[in-house]
Amino acid sequence: MPRVLVSDFIPGDILDPLARMAEIEMWDQVGRAPRAWLLEHLPGCEGWLSMLSDRIDAELLDVAPGLRVISQMSVGVDNIDVAACREHGVSVGHTPDVLTEATADTAFALLAAAVRRIPEGAEIVKRGEWGPWDPWYFLSGDLHGATIGIVGMGRIGQAIARRARGFDMEIVYTTRSPKEIDDATEVGLERLLEMSDIVVIAVALDDGTQGMIGRDQLSRMKETAFLVNVARGPIVDTDALVFALTEGSIGGAALDVTDPEPLPPDHPLLELPNCLVVPHIGSATLPARREMATLAVANLTAYLRQQPMPAWLPGSAEQPLGDYPAPGPPPLAG
Ligand code: DGY
Repeated sequence: MPRVLVSDFIPGDILDPLARMAEIEMWDQVGRAPRAWLLEHLPGCEGWLSMLSDRIDAELLDVAPGLRVISQMSVGVDNIDVAACREHGVSVGHTPDVLTEATADTAFALLAAAVRRIPEGAEIVKRGEWGPWDPWYFLSGDLHGATIGIVGMGRIGQAIARRARGFDMEIVYTTRSPKEIDDATEVGLERLLEMSDIVVIAVALDDGTQGMIGRDQLSRMKETAFLVNVARGPIVDTDALVFALTEGSIGGAALDVTDPEPLPPDHPLLELPNCLVVPHIGSATLPARREMATLAVANLTAYLRQQPMPAWLPGSAEQPLGDYPAPGPPPLAG
């Protein structure tokens, strides 16, 4: 039987199809699987069900020359050196689609909470500072009818746009692969930043998007505008964001992801009343996480059966179909 590493707990009913065809080594302790544990247990494995918190690089791939497939339980793969996987003959799978709606719900929950100052209001009540109703107290801007700028009109961006239409918002967006979106206007990033009342980051992290929202970009936003990030922390320059929030050059921010992540409890972002931070919970609904785990298992079992993975990652090694080679060293480069 092939050996497969699973670097976090997966419920038995979901893991079962894999357990019937592979010998499983699973990290099921509290906290992340330490790198030392991965380095110790990967040798001899043919498959790996990985998490976005595992840093997957050439060093790890080198210790496991028999590794053929990595199936990650997330859509984002910025923790994986995909080129190194290709060079080592490792096919990669991930979990798009099944988390789209949950993540778009989180984006909307964050932007509604930030615009209508919900966390601040809740804090005031808890501190016993709730006074008599006052017509001019605790005002905010409107959520309905606002202009929303969606940076990245992929699956999650489009799901956010569907929700925005229900709030009668004007929708502008940027996209890397041109597409027509109903009731929405494609604009450049600078124009989007200048026009929007709410800017939502929904683009994948890669060399082209790392640091794309820095001091210059933040300075283009309206003084009343909000920045929402449900993608990856390093897309936004954290120091520049702290500066903009402290100066009041933007209205506020709501972040599901940060850089660094996790954010240390004494981080300046957490001192700011106009910044709402939640701990990377975009897809953290039980149904979405079960579907992500199910798809991650399906990618692995498909590979081991020499069938096409339901969600293979382009750029990783092609999957050898139908004629599954015995585990062995990776093909020689070139
Ligand atoms: C992903 O799948 O990339 C998400 O960030 C997990 O919530």
